[in-house]
Amino acid sequence: MGDIEITELRKLTEFIKQEFDYDFKNYAMSSFRRRIQRVLDLYKMDSVDELIRLLAKQEFFFEEFISEVTVNVTEMFRDPTFWRVLREHIIPNILLNHNKISIWHAGCSSGEEIISMMIMLDEMGVADKAKIVATDVDKAIIERAKKATYPLKNMEVNRKNYLRYQGKYTLERYYKESGSEAIINPSLLENVSYRKHDLVQGSVFSKFDLVLCRNVMIYFNQTLQNDVLHKLHESLFKYGYLVIGSKESLIWCDIAHKFIVVNNEEKIYKKIKD
Ligand SMILES: C[S@@+](CC[C@H](N)C(=O)[O-])C[C@H]1O[C@@H](n2cnc3c(N)ncnc32)[C@H](O)[C@@H]1O
Repeated sequence: MGDIEITELRKLTEFIKQEFDYDFKNYAMSSFRRRIQRVLDLYKMDSVDELIRLLAKQEFFFEEFISEVTVNVTEMFRDPTFWRVLREHIIPNILLNHNKISIWHAGCSSGEEIISMMIMLDEMGVADKAKIVATDVDKAIIERAKKATYPLKNMEVNRKNYLRYQGKYTLERYYKESGSEAIINPSLLENVSYRKHDLVQGSVFSKFDLVLCRNVMIYFNQTLQNDVLHKLHESLFKYGYLVIGSKESLIWCDIAHKFIVVNNEEKIYKKIKD
């Protein structure tokens, strides 16, 4: 079977926008196409038209569809060097001028990034100063983040990352094993609130000292990345920090001059202009 045609993808995104009010129009075409192909293969469908028919017929299928279309890959202490810079420079810097610290995880996926943050803050002895908001467009993945229970086999890579991060203890300190699962200690996540939020169509809902939007915009085209960067900028207090994924950049966007680069390797930026 050949590649899914652009016209078919357009038909699908228009249908989804009209019926479900999700806007995939400006998702990066090649990865979006691959994800749709994956859905077709997974559900043994022959065409995008068949997918549209199923979405039209069975509304509850849409949530499953969203989970399949979005890429949820994540790890605890993903890019350990980034977490070290956060611990050694960024958090102490914020706390120099503030007694409290507000953090937004935009595109939090199944929550590993939030757990890393809370472990780091806990080990720094500042967890009680933090207020964390975690959002994602995928409702099912937020439920998984809330549950904070992971397959034990995933913990191996998480433990390796934690070791490279050079945490104070061992990762085992933060979870208990139950069968084939690792259950994160719930007290770690007490200061976290979770909500569904769409970076594409959602509005700016608060202001933060630190916003993490890592490995999310990589799935958007440049127009959409630019729009989302405006929202992230607006969601930061002046002199607040923005972190994006290690393969992402914002130097090309039209508000790049409103940020300075704090750490180019780790993609950490500071808002310097409203
Ligand atoms: C690859 S994960 C990144 C997880 C984590 N930030 C990390 O770097 O490990 C991307 C997440 O972005 C979410 N996402 C995709 N489109 C989104 C949108 N329009 N608004 C909010 N989140 C979105 C996906 O559901 C997915 O959970």
